[in-house]
Amino acid sequence: METNTNQENASLDIPVIDLSNQDEELVARAVVKASEEWGIFQVVNHGIPPELIRRLQEVGKKFFELPETEKEAVSKPKDSMDTEGYRTMYQKDLEGRDAWVDHLFHRIWPPSRVTYRFWPKNPREYLEVNEEYASHLKKLSEKIMEWLSEGLGLRREALKEGLGGETVEYLMKINYYPPCADPDLVVGAPDHTDVNGITLLVANEALGLQALKDDLWIDAKCNPSGIIAIIGDQILRISNGKYKSVQHRATRDKEKTRISWPVFVESSLDHVFGPLPELISGEDSAPKFKPYVYKDFKFRKLKKLSLD
Ligand code: SIN
Ligand code: FE2
Repeated sequence: METNTNQENASLDIPVIDLSNQDEELVARAVVKASEEWGIFQVVNHGIPPELIRRLQEVGKKFFELPETEKEAVSKPKDSMDTEGYRTMYQKDLEGRDAWVDHLFHRIWPPSRVTYRFWPKNPREYLEVNEEYASHLKKLSEKIMEWLSEGLGLRREALKEGLGGETVEYLMKINYYPPCADPDLVVGAPDHTDVNGITLLVANEALGLQALKDDLWIDAKCNPSGIIAIIGDQILRISNGKYKSVQHRATRDKEKTRISWPVFVESSLDHVFGPLPELISGEDSAPKFKPYVYKDFKFRKLKKLSLD
């Protein structure tokens, strides 16, 4: 039984954009359109080798299948104010359903913000695979942000600079959702928008990620080597509302274990972000959002406090 007021729509798909198309203008326009209308899309033939994505999934899965005591080697310390480390998280969604997931967080970029003690030592290839993935993913996210900057009529670097330029951080998360006997009572991730700039996510074959479009929940299907891009609150605000931060959630499967690997591209905590000055200088272009120090913004969102 669907307890949510929103319906589900099985026939609609999120936009799929083939980045190998030689007509870059066309690709850029598709990315801009999808970010305006959906806030979520899948990119395929994006230049990250499918074999690397397969290995990323393999090393992550192997880590989560280790005995609990071994996983605890990279546990989030109890007194830590940061998110890095392994833990099980319990939440309630808006309807009061239980939401829980095992997860691991660790930064993968920039090198000055990487703490290897939160990177699994087992399996041994974990480090090499994640480092290689980080360098590829940074290029992909910067390319997408360049197209989004041009879609705002700005220089290619504008969005990246708005997020903090070379201080922008890449935070890897692995979500591990075991099968669940009653997916109507237990969800994976409650309905939310991402707080960061853009999220780039790969997932295993189990369906679960859903995005809200025109009041309908749409399954975000993903090719085995495709990457899902999710526009977050920071890009919504930096673009002064042109790009949409999409509501999304993760459901649980009765039989399959679902695993997802989102990487959150975000400002460093002390960076101040808000609508780009070029977008709010004209007469009829009032700022729709106030600037925030990212740390304060994250805190207020987490505590469900008002945000201007
Ligand atoms: C989330 O957005 O928090 C979860 C995404 C997923 O598991 O696909
Ligand atoms: Fe999310």
